[in-house]
Amino acid sequence: MKTLILNGSPRKNGDSRFIIDALTKALKGEIILINVYDEKVSPCIDCRYCWKENDCAIKDDMSKTYDLMNEVDNVILSSPIYFSELSGPLLSYVSRFQRYYAQKVLRADPNFYMKPKKGLILLSAGDDLSNLERPIKTAKIILGMINTKSLGVIATVQTNEIPAKEDKTLDQKIIDMAKLLNSAE
Ligand SMILES: Cc1cc2nc3c(=O)[nH]c(=O)nc-3n(C[C@H](O)[C@H](O)[C@H](O)COP(=O)(O)O)c2cc1C
Repeated sequence: MKTLILNGSPRKNGDSRFIIDALTKALKGEIILINVYDEKVSPCIDCRYCWKENDCAIKDDMSKTYDLMNEVDNVILSSPIYFSELSGPLLSYVSRFQRYYAQKVLRADPNFYMKPKKGLILLSAGDDLSNLERPIKTAKIILGMINTKSLGVIATVQTNEIPAKEDKTLDQKIIDMAKLLNSAE
């Protein structure tokens, strides 16, 4: 089993990273962690090259992730909540999945293939649960673009008062979700 984690937090020992590390320990197989803040990846500029070609006009580190799309079994999107959304750099990074939308939907290319994958959404929020509806919807749209079905969400909230490492509710959620991914092989 191969799992790709796209981490949209800039904090090296932050709340998202705590969940990622705990989950990683519980998951079988190979883990590929991409911290989007460390990547040299430009946002999609809607140049529409992908309206004609099965590729992206921008040549940068995104090629690593493109290469993994038909290889990994799971994709995990992890983000802190910023302004009730996924973080800007994560949204910028995944805007480069637009090439798949262009090929599959805009061009209806009969040769389009995207491996079906399983997904998970990890969220960290300073405030309460009421923040999470919109980012969960966004994360599901992003996962859908890469043919990834979300199996669930692990969220830690009110991190302003209780950081993830002190959130007693996380252990069981992580065990349950890891079990789900591990058994879905
Ligand atoms: C620019 C910015 C915007 C934020 N906006 C929200 C918000 O809208 N709702 C919320 O609950 N927390 C918000 N927060 C708090 C973070 O979501 C919270 O601190 C989170 O646990 C950080 O996760 P991390 O340590 O994984 O980066 C914001 C933090 C920053 C820096």
